[in-house]
Amino acid sequence: MISKKMEEALNKQLNAELFSSYLYLAMAAYLEDLNLNGMASWMRLQSQEEYEHGLKFYEYIGSVGKRVKLEALETPQFEWKNPQEAFEAALAHEKKITKNIYDLSDLAVDEKDHATRNFLNWFVDEQVEEVASVTVIVEKFKMVSDSKNSLYLLDKELGKRGQK
Ligand code: FEO
Repeated sequence: MISKKMEEALNKQLNAELFSSYLYLAMAAYLEDLNLNGMASWMRLQSQEEYEHGLKFYEYIGSVGKRVKLEALETPQFEWKNPQEAFEAALAHEKKITKNIYDLSDLAVDEKDHATRNFLNWFVDEQVEEVASVTVIVEKFKMVSDSKNSLYLLDKELGKRGQK
């Protein structure tokens, strides 16, 4: 049995994951508009992953006998100064999500809710991976600075995500 407070916190995180999906889709549209289709494709895959994260919360809330409560999603940002800034914003967002997950885990520990803490462990690991992968991309942007050739190559590289 999970507490009302935990139920609300899990629903809030479900919203945050769906917002992440929405935000990355907005970034994909921005990158597509710049004809950076490889980067846009990376963001679309990221958006899909976030939707799946949202579904994990959806399923967990149901599995502990609680009801999912969907709330309105915030309007995501529409414009960025350049692609690097969009990826930097994605990194900052992932760090914020990591903090949310840690706060949720802390709450689960405080409430001796071991099932929820166990459920959240997957997200703790996932956040390490997500922050690491976006950090690598941001570092690559810093290396290539404003060179158009390098941007083209980075676009190509990111477009390979999800391909065999
Ligand atoms: Fe679901 Fe990228 O956090």
